[in-house]
Amino acid sequence: MRITIFGTGYVGLVTGACLADVGHDVLCMDVDADKVARLEAGEIPIFEPGLEELVTANTASGRLRFTTDAATAVDFGVLQFIAVGTPPDEDGSADLQYVLTVAETIGRYMREFKVIVDKSTVPVGTADRVREVVAGVLEERGEALDFEVCSNPEFLKEGAAIEDFTHGARFVVGTSSERVRELMRECYAPYIRLQEKLMFMDVRAAELTKYAANAMLATKISFMNEIANLAERLGADVEQVRRGIGSDPRIGYHFIYPGCGYGGSCFPKDVRALTRTASDVHYEAQLLGAVEGVNHRQKQTLFDKLERAFDGALAGRTIALWGLAFKPNTDDMRDAPSRTLMEALWRVGARVQAYDPEAMGECRRLYGERDDLTLVDSREAAVQGADALVICTEWKVFRMVDFDWLKRQLGMPVVVDGRNLYDPETVRKAGLMYFAVGRGDSL
Ligand code: UGA
Repeated sequence: MRITIFGTGYVGLVTGACLADVGHDVLCMDVDADKVARLEAGEIPIFEPGLEELVTANTASGRLRFTTDAATAVDFGVLQFIAVGTPPDEDGSADLQYVLTVAETIGRYMREFKVIVDKSTVPVGTADRVREVVAGVLEERGEALDFEVCSNPEFLKEGAAIEDFTHGARFVVGTSSERVRELMRECYAPYIRLQEKLMFMDVRAAELTKYAANAMLATKISFMNEIANLAERLGADVEQVRRGIGSDPRIGYHFIYPGCGYGGSCFPKDVRALTRTASDVHYEAQLLGAVEGVNHRQKQTLFDKLERAFDGALAGRTIALWGLAFKPNTDDMRDAPSRTLMEALWRVGARVQAYDPEAMGECRRLYGERDDLTLVDSREAAVQGADALVICTEWKVFRMVDFDWLKRQLGMPVVVDGRNLYDPETVRKAGLMYFAVGRGDSL
């Protein structure tokens, strides 16, 4: 099947590479000529396990190709996936300008029936707006061509994107057209052979499903962070509470890890956008507001704990950071808790000495050269000469630590663990002060 994908960001590139890998002919279109040239040369702009191999293999076989030429792209596939960015506007709503520009492009160049597939995370009602834009352009052209718009949101996680695409729980398709159902069935046939994972529903239900899924997951995390903060003040260990509640199948173990707050490109943006969508229809989404509020506060707890450990005297101190990315297996630092911490430390005149297995390039890009930031190339180098250690991301390399050794490295024996990686007893036995999340040691 011939498939066109607009946008070679996370979603577009993963979708394109995965669909090519199961035998479809995929053409990815991006307006960024430099990016397209780099992709053609096998250079992947993002760090995502397995993606480079997949792109390289499928580019070599000719099933995955890239272009900057819009007319060629529109001509190519019967399915036209829109996978461009939807950055937040100032008011938190999703900015649809890129999505609607693609719709315009498709309207301008199409010469036969097309199915436009919204894969970007877009507010409820976007499919209707895309339809209006395409219809408007066709009318201007004086063409009466047939087309359909459907919603097919993506549920992949950064760091596990390929696995999520190929072995995800479901493919959600919002459409009322039998013709579209047939084509989407053909598109996903290689994945639904063993198990029926294709879910057809109304367009608006599909659009809302995407936001509801992310908002639900964000809610679980904020709920757990709230319980952790309470546990801290009540002298209870939230890790025991987590196991205690997770064992109830109605609650489950997934996504109830307390920590230093959720980050990334999706949860913060989508919770805000859904809140905004709610207010557009004159509904106050109280729970969503609280989810965001709790998360905002949670991201500041690392700094609060440090500040209290140092009795407010953080100026001139050097703080070691293990982990900069918003989660492991990615170089993404969007809305990462590490940023809230670093920026707060800099404001009070402290220095940061940080190590991350993948995100240091991104950190350099974000903050440039500055005297109060040193990026080093190992976790050992990060703690050398530092006054305290903070763990912001649960990368595997941080899990096993010789705490006696760590104590000898640190000027003050302070470890703030935003990811609850260690057994408090073991850390404290080595003579370190250990401040985790919700583990009974409120300062
Ligand atoms: C999230 C969803 O998990 C995907 O299903 C969705 O497709 C994606 O957003 C999207 O909309 O594109 P992602 O942002 O890549 O994926 O990352 P997650 O693995 O969900 O983690 C999000 C944040 O929650 C991280 O900061 C993580 O540290 C935090 N988290 C996660 C917790 O604090 N506790 C948990 O128990 C789980």
